[in-house]
Amino acid sequence: MLKETIQKMLNQQLNAELYSSYEYLAMSAYFESENLSGFSNWMGIQSREEYGHAMKFYNYLLEARGTINFSQIDAPKVGWKSVEGVFQDTFKHEQKVTESIYKLVDQAITEKDHATNIFLQWFVTEQVEEESNAMKILDRIKLIGDNKSGLLLLDHELGRRAAAK
Ligand code: FEO
Repeated sequence: MLKETIQKMLNQQLNAELYSSYEYLAMSAYFESENLSGFSNWMGIQSREEYGHAMKFYNYLLEARGTINFSQIDAPKVGWKSVEGVFQDTFKHEQKVTESIYKLVDQAITEKDHATNIFLQWFVTEQVEEESNAMKILDRIKLIGDNKSGLLLLDHELGRRAAAK
């Protein structure tokens, strides 16, 4: 049985993952409007992955006989000024997600909730990948600078990202 605090935090994380999905979808739309369909594809897949993360929390809460508390999902930011700006936001966002996952793990340990702690370990590992992916793309964008051909090459590469099976 889930204790009150961890249940509340798991529900907050469910909301945060849905927000992530929404934010990446907004980024995908931004890239499409800039005719960068490869970047848009990458963000669209990212958005769907985040929805998948939300569903992991949803399913875990149900399996652990917890209560689902849906709350309002904030509107995402829109109107970026550059490709680099989008990936700076992406990296910062993933760092924030990592922080909240760590807080959840801390709480699970405090409550001696071993099942929730084990459930959360997948997210601990996933966040290493999430931060690393965002950072790698951000570094490449910085390297490319004002070189339009370089940007189009990266766009082509990101267009090949396929959804994880
Ligand atoms: Fe659900 Fe990108 O972390």
